[in-house]
Amino acid sequence: MELLIGRIAEKKILSEALASSSLELLAVFGRRRVGKTFLIRSVFRKQLIFELSGVHDANASEQLLNFSKAIADALGSGLTPAAPILKKRKAVIFLD
Ligand SMILES: Nc1ncnc2c1ncn2[C@@H]1O[C@H](COP(=O)(O)OP(=O)(O)O)[C@@H](O)[C@H]1O
Ligand SMILES: [Mg+2]
Repeated sequence: MELLIGRIAEKKILSEALASSSLELLAVFGRRRVGKTFLIRSVFRKQLIFELSGVHDANASEQLLNFSKAIADALGSGLTPAAPILKKRKAVIFLD
């Protein structure tokens, strides 16, 4: 993966959320192509256990179908026991 340039303040916020002993919900927003996806993937590379990207120009039922397929795939590949994973380390779910 390419090197993440700058984003010092944003990296601090994301790292603090990762270090938190609570569950955290982060919303990252901004114009297209400013680096939101790249930032999340770079900072949480080791902790990402599930990532879902919305489908461009799809309607609500297509989005839901895409979501349910991605969840089913993830469960099939061993994501199921989230609790044991979380007892060992922090995990990140990324809805893009
Ligand atoms: N901080 C950064 N350092 C290096 N490259 C970056 C950075 N932010 C964005 N980029 C580059 O710009 C591209 C587009 O960013 P992306 O994360 O897809 O934007 P967004 O998700 O906001 O639409 C990335 O694939 C990456 O090549
Ligand atoms: Mg993006």
